[in-house]
Amino acid sequence: MASYSFTHKPQAVPHVKTKFRRIVTPLPVPESLPLLERLYAIESRSMHGQLPVIWDRAEGFQVFDAWGNCWLDFSSTIFVANAGHGNHRIIEALRRVMNKPLLHTYTYASQERLDFIDYLIQHTPPQYEKAFLLSAGTEATECALKLMRLHGGKTGKRRGGILCFEGNWHGRTLGAQMMSWNPMQKAWIGYLDPDIHHLPFPYPWRAEVQDDPAGYFHKNVKLLLDQKRIDPEQDLCGVMLETFQGWGAVFYPNEFVHALVKFARDYGMLVAFDEMQAGFGRTGKLFGYMHYDVEPDILCCGKGASSSLPLAIVLGSQKVMDLPDSGSMSSTHSANPMVCAAGKANLEALIKDGLIENSDRLGRILHDDLRRLAAEFSHHISSVQGRGLLAAILFNSPRDGRPLTTLCDRIAERCMQRGLLVVHTGRESIKIAPPLCIALEALHEGLTVLKQTIRDCIVEGGH
Ligand SMILES: Cc1ncc(COP(=O)(O)O)c(C=O)c1O
Repeated sequence: MASYSFTHKPQAVPHVKTKFRRIVTPLPVPESLPLLERLYAIESRSMHGQLPVIWDRAEGFQVFDAWGNCWLDFSSTIFVANAGHGNHRIIEALRRVMNKPLLHTYTYASQERLDFIDYLIQHTPPQYEKAFLLSAGTEATECALKLMRLHGGKTGKRRGGILCFEGNWHGRTLGAQMMSWNPMQKAWIGYLDPDIHHLPFPYPWRAEVQDDPAGYFHKNVKLLLDQKRIDPEQDLCGVMLETFQGWGAVFYPNEFVHALVKFARDYGMLVAFDEMQAGFGRTGKLFGYMHYDVEPDILCCGKGASSSLPLAIVLGSQKVMDLPDSGSMSSTHSANPMVCAAGKANLEALIKDGLIENSDRLGRILHDDLRRLAAEFSHHISSVQGRGLLAAILFNSPRDGRPLTTLCDRIAERCMQRGLLVVHTGRESIKIAPPLCIALEALHEGLTVLKQTIRDCIVEGGH
């Protein structure tokens, strides 16, 4: 999250009344400020920095406050509400469990747990034979790290080496931070895991990557192995990759991923994908890795896995998922009956209500529109990335290529003042990720607002 501070001084913004948006107060709403200030006083500041909107209600692709304002949501609360806010299937499923009532079971079994995992396994590719449920995404990536190392130990590796990527991000707990890049963010740990290695990310705008994506992988892996005297046969257990690099929705070239997976197979390593942002229909397929035509051994999911309550999932083969002993991989809140009911209803909504197809269909329209937008603002927009209902617009200075982070902060803030919530990344990107149930008319309306806002912020200058 960004260090940028959105203004907390109410601005007399023009009123907006359209089919999908309604802004009828100054923003931030003056009456909301005492609530925000109280929260800032009593809650860790690490939680703060978001746009100053207090959510009261959210439905479909709209977010409402308690003062009559309504925003069109292009964020899905950062890739969570894939099935739409307050999805009726999820609410009904939760009501059924609440009415029993059955709020918690710890590790005791429940019908909800069986029903969800059964449905999940039936609707995911055959290599995923077993699931492990958790609450947070960071727990899922930590779990993958453990599974890859347990597998390496079992197959006689002498070290627990894991290949990761520069610029990728996997969560905030210790192992997840070790696998993430951002050296500043993990400085608190005080040491680096000597068996976690980072390879350069194949940004598609690098000429070297464009010329020979597979060659880029081979060159860099060789450099790493030589520099650190690593024998992949004995020292490497796995590879962890974000399906696309989060801040910029940057996918890897297909040939690069194929070379990486072949390397992993040749040396008995497991391949884990962090599908936190990419999973559950976001990119127009059930899982984002499916764009690469590979078969990962381990999938780490969260966010859109429930569109609501805290649910993270690790999926893998029986052989891999049964590596930890009985009782050695569990968590108090995992497989909670409410969460499981939400998880099943969410997946049903995605599959039965055609939301994955919607993501693909509207995603094509979104990307066509964004390509036109990039051409119009070609001096400031260096590229548009993403697939399905996921996009990132990347802004760089026309003079020196400098990342235009402040411009993006301003665009996010100004969009909010006009009734549109986009994903604020704190970097030189604006991300777009509406709930997958968004109507075409609403998508067009949001894009019109975004385009006008980009134009206004560029004209104002000062970035
Ligand atoms: C790619 C990726 N991995 C892991 C995580 C961590 O998930 P959580 O915040 O649920 O722990 C996130 C969260 O933003 C993420 O985007």
